[in-house]
Amino acid sequence: MQNGITLNQFLIDEQRRLGGTDSDLPALVNDIVVACKIISNGVSQGALAGVLGGLGTENVQGEAQKKLDVISNDVMIEAGKRGGYVASMASEEMDEILPATPQGKYLLLFDPLDGSSNIDVNISVGTIFSILRCPEGVANPATADFMQPGTKQVCAGYALYGPSTMFVITTGHGVNGFTLDRNIGEFVLTHPNMTIPEDTREFAINASNTRFWEAPVKRYIDECLAGKEGARKADFNMRWVASMVAEVHRILTRGGIFMYPIDSKTKEKGGRLRLMYEANPMSFIVEQAGGASSTGRQRILEVQPTGTHQRIAVILGSKNEVERVVSYHKEG
Ligand code: AHG
Ligand code: MN
Ligand code: MN
Repeated sequence: MQNGITLNQFLIDEQRRLGGTDSDLPALVNDIVVACKIISNGVSQGALAGVLGGLGTENVQGEAQKKLDVISNDVMIEAGKRGGYVASMASEEMDEILPATPQGKYLLLFDPLDGSSNIDVNISVGTIFSILRCPEGVANPATADFMQPGTKQVCAGYALYGPSTMFVITTGHGVNGFTLDRNIGEFVLTHPNMTIPEDTREFAINASNTRFWEAPVKRYIDECLAGKEGARKADFNMRWVASMVAEVHRILTRGGIFMYPIDSKTKEKGGRLRLMYEANPMSFIVEQAGGASSTGRQRILEVQPTGTHQRIAVILGSKNEVERVVSYHKEG
């Protein structure tokens, strides 16, 4: 029997080792962990629990809401309210920010269920979260207080509801992955110090958007597709799960590049993915694992947000490939 370290123990040890002012962080993360266990349970029960299918409603972004989107959102809200650590929350599924505990030290942002078009077809989905500090002296934060660039995140992570349920987290000191041991009900450290190989021969992009792409992205993908006979002199492989959590997890495990670039279809909105609860937490994790993350023109973590639901272009993963795509943008 393996006597592994649990996520809670790991975070407490990490805080002790590092000292600093975030002694409440393990307790807040633990509340999020409990929420993810509950969501994991709902996801794995699927049709047995009657949680599949749509609700017939739309979120603020005009996307159809699944039952599990709303259930997961409620569970995450409970987590944010539980310990009194969170002053206010923002979620993909809520139009406005939701005040929690006045004087709470943190702001919590989340995508309660990512990849939710996959729920009904029994393919991996996940939960993404990002934690910011509530600005000093602000007891009841407003939306403006959330407008902090991704570099200000104190913690980010995701739960992946796949063949096994995993929890991957960074507090800015590397990335560690934990697997849910259902026998003891705990996430156990199984993937210490996750790192992304600098090079890759695997890309992920929704190729049905090819005709909308900008020239630098088209050039990069064309070169990948040309394989050994082309400029790259190597054959490339392609994957597309349509769950950002699953794509990022694959990249953390074996490398790769993931792109949801700006294109003529999404240009007006700024992109497809959301900056504050998708791109920023994932970029923090990817950079902490030695990868890179960019819009093609700017490091994502340095983008100054203008709205909680703001969208952004995302190009992340193995460093050398991301840098190549960025260089193609510079060349125009
Ligand atoms: P969500 O389910 O939270 O709305 O996010 C889905 C996102 C992301 O996870 C995925 O990479 C992308 O949308 C899939 O987009 P396509 O539908 O274009 O494949
Ligand atoms: Mn999402
Ligand atoms: Mn979602």
